[in-house]
Amino acid sequence: MDARIAILPGDGVGPEVVREAVGCLGTIAEAFGHRFAFEEAPIGGAAVDLCGDPLPHATLDICKTSQAILLGAVGGPQWDGRPLEQRPEQGLLRLRKELGVFANLRPVAVHEAMLHASPLRAEIVRGTDLVIVRELSGGLYFGEPRSLDPNRAVNTLPYERYEIERVSRVAFELARVRRHKLVSVDKANVLETSRLWRKVVGEMAPEYPDVELHHQYVDSFAMALVTRPTDFDVVLTENLFGDILSDEAAVLAGSLGLLPSASLGGPVGLYEPIHGSAPDIAGKDIANPVGTILSAAMLLRHSLNLHAEAAALEAAVDAALAAGHGTPDITRASRREGTRTLGARIRNHIFKPRMPTATATIPAHVWWGSPEGSLHLHS
Ligand code: NAD
Ligand code: IPM
Ligand code: MN
Repeated sequence: MDARIAILPGDGVGPEVVREAVGCLGTIAEAFGHRFAFEEAPIGGAAVDLCGDPLPHATLDICKTSQAILLGAVGGPQWDGRPLEQRPEQGLLRLRKELGVFANLRPVAVHEAMLHASPLRAEIVRGTDLVIVRELSGGLYFGEPRSLDPNRAVNTLPYERYEIERVSRVAFELARVRRHKLVSVDKANVLETSRLWRKVVGEMAPEYPDVELHHQYVDSFAMALVTRPTDFDVVLTENLFGDILSDEAAVLAGSLGLLPSASLGGPVGLYEPIHGSAPDIAGKDIANPVGTILSAAMLLRHSLNLHAEAAALEAAVDAALAAGHGTPDITRASRREGTRTLGARIRNHIFKPRMPTATATIPAHVWWGSPEGSLHLHS
């Protein structure tokens, strides 16, 4: 197939990890006979430095006319003092809003070869396989009013029923093609928004009698996530809780650099690792590219419907990790490799399988108004 993919490297380690993921997509295209046209555009601090805007019109145009977007990370201390509209993070938030991507899938799977990398005991993390479904276009991030004065600041946490329903539907459907378990995480003992959240999610449960639904307070869930992670399958939560809990979940996987994400719900999907621009390690060729490479695999599956290709890329990552290759965050001192070397190792493990791969599908009606149609998910 022919596909146009927008590439937004961003700041810090963003360009380093994106380069490896684009390399992997190139190898996949070659192995499977596709033609991917990569169109690179500035976002975040790099775009602020170029033209004073963290999401230039031209970048947004390229994104909206592509079939999918791969993004590195944005931000860094050099832009922290800027006014709100010149903050790199605002460019990313505007992009998510403009694309209408309301559901952010953050899978957390613990690789057997990564057990040593987690500070948690192997018997706790072994077998962890969960997906956080984070609401991405509402809540505190976008709520009005917001203000900052010298002695008072305000943010607002609003949610409308329809916003809760559409992301909940994604979570229920995802549970249906996985292990049929859903936990909805909120703070309903304190927040009105969470009380509405819990009510709406609960009202949808009868439509999914095959999914076992639990509600849990976010403080208690934060503890349970690192003490009994294998209890969880699909985790549904609002924007800020999902942001915090997914970084916490990275401790299970062994490194923040390992986790990918897919942001879906609009006409064009956005794919990015969950980590930030990591200014402390930028430019040193030591950032872990795996989260971005696995995001590229999610791109193949969810935006291009290329399931065998996605599986081949994931298998290549598995094989490279199983062989003991890795960046310093996940590898013992004697075997440490750089970002570029690990990327090359993964590319060397890409093979076209002889047999077609099986997939499970979320029905198209879950993505209200999305021309993308159905979302395919690993069972
Ligand atoms: P961070 O995620 O950038 O880094 C946290 C820690 O994890 C650091 O020690 C870093 O070295 C390490 N780390 C991150 N990615 C890694 C990788 N691929 N390989 C190995 N180690 C990795 O979070 P931070 O330091 O709090 O934020 C830095 C900047 O990134 C801030 O400006 C923040 O706003 C921004 N940020 C952007 C995104 C995004 O673009 N999606 C996400 C989070 C933070
Ligand atoms: C993430 C990041 C972003 C978020 C920031 C950079 C706006 O932390 O993608 O997890 O909070 O969503
Ligand atoms: Mn985050």
